[in-house]
Amino acid sequence: MTEDIKNETNHTYQQLLEGNRTFVAEQLSTDPDYFTTLASGQKPEVLWIGCSDSRVPANQVTNTKPGEVFVHRNIANVCVHSDMNMLSVLDYSVNVLKVKHVIVAGHYGCGGVAAAMSNKQYGLIDNWLRHIKDVYRLHAHELDLITDDQKRTDRLVELNTIEQVFNLCKTTIIQNAWKERDDLQVHGWVIDIRTGLLKDLKVSCSNSDNLGKVFALDTSVK
Ligand code: CO
Repeated sequence: MTEDIKNETNHTYQQLLEGNRTFVAEQLSTDPDYFTTLASGQKPEVLWIGCSDSRVPANQVTNTKPGEVFVHRNIANVCVHSDMNMLSVLDYSVNVLKVKHVIVAGHYGCGGVAAAMSNKQYGLIDNWLRHIKDVYRLHAHELDLITDDQKRTDRLVELNTIEQVFNLCKTTIIQNAWKERDDLQVHGWVIDIRTGLLKDLKVSCSNSDNLGKVFALDTSVK
């Protein structure tokens, strides 16, 4: 590593620590009890499942504060029922924190979705992207009719988000929670990173009515 690169890396690293000190000072200047209050516990009403992309941070795009949104992020906001990490976050937020809204937030310009549309190999991540290729296969009849590459990718971003909403609804976690309470909704949103605006895909679910006979589980038997 050259000295220049070392200095550059060091600068980025030091900036983070400096940024933290600025953050703490700013919070304390407006509310001296800010961190004491935060330390006393959390009661977020929202679980956000978004993409790891550095341009779509949950709090900033929704203008919310620490303590308001429980967050899980992975590449291309995929919700697979064999992912223990996602399931643990979902179970904890639904059954312990009792969140009222679970939001899957995709975004236009998603590199994971774009990669899934290509035939290129990227390495280990190809296994993760397979889930998005499966979404493409499910909706190929619609997607293949879109000739504009950008529009086709944007549509797959939307369809991927919608499929992940349904994937969440199919879990025993969500379906058993719906049996116990009627204040839990699962939503699908897309962030347009070109404008910063959120778009509600209008696929919100609050019961298992539309999941079909093999996915709507008998929640009386546990
Ligand atoms: Co992305």
